[in-house]
Amino acid sequence: AFPPASGVSVAELSRLPEAELRSRVLARPRPRHVAIIMDGNGRWATRRGLPRVAGHHQGVKAVRETVRQVGELGIDFLTLYAFSSENWQRPETEVSFLMTLLERTIDGELPDLMAKNVRFRVIGRSAGIPPGVRRRIEHVVTETAANTGLTLVLALNYGGRDEIVDAVRGLAREVRAGALDPESIDEAAVARALYTDGMPDPDLLIRTSGEMRVSNFLLWQIAYTELWVTPTLWPDFGVRDLHVAVAEYQRRDRRFGRV
Ligand code: IPE
Ligand code: IPE
Ligand code: MG
Repeated sequence: AFPPASGVSVAELSRLPEAELRSRVLARPRPRHVAIIMDGNGRWATRRGLPRVAGHHQGVKAVRETVRQVGELGIDFLTLYAFSSENWQRPETEVSFLMTLLERTIDGELPDLMAKNVRFRVIGRSAGIPPGVRRRIEHVVTETAANTGLTLVLALNYGGRDEIVDAVRGLAREVRAGALDPESIDEAAVARALYTDGMPDPDLLIRTSGEMRVSNFLLWQIAYTELWVTPTLWPDFGVRDLHVAVAEYQRRDRRFGRV
């Protein structure tokens, strides 16, 4: 826990000149793990009279900029919700555009991830991802495995309930094999069985585009995460939005059920 709440309100934070906002953020402990529900690509495009996929295309630029800024703040983990287990229900054209966009983008980012010392990881049901995308992901995961800076986690074909189902299956298999006593299963054992094994829980969850819901993201892990929803649409999310979110997080009094 860190000292709570300076007197400054969110509105006041948002009005601070960028340099001052940034130095405020750097003067206090940053979250170790930031998770983001990158929402609003479709609306961003629709408002401009463009097809929804133009918003996804623009969203990639916001991802790049966010990865850079998060790294510069010295945050250890960034988890980005890129494609949910429910997103397959979208029109086939949008789904295949997204998969192609991923396939093209991931490879191209490798030199930049290496230069920034970023370790790349993916969570979700990999079996459901098209083989072309999967191969490129595996390549980048392997190449960046020894990097020691920011860990960038892409949630892809990810569902929080799927993750819990997969964890339960894994534990059940261990019990059946006689390697695990059901009575010894505790919170730590469940956490180890999740895709996020070895990662700290998110300290801050950001959702763009104003929706006040969790949409099946990191259900177990966000038990005590601080939530921040901004009306900014994902393709418009920039350094200022990030700094406001982190500054707001730094004002929060995290009690974890204590007084
Ligand atoms: C988020 O933007 C990106 C994905 C879910 C892949 P949306 O595509 O959900 O955009 P909106 O919410 O329809 O505006
Ligand atoms: C959540 O956004 C999933 C991602 C950002 C990848 P959605 O747009 O799919 O969520 P809902 O439909 O608004 O709940
Ligand atoms: Mg959406």
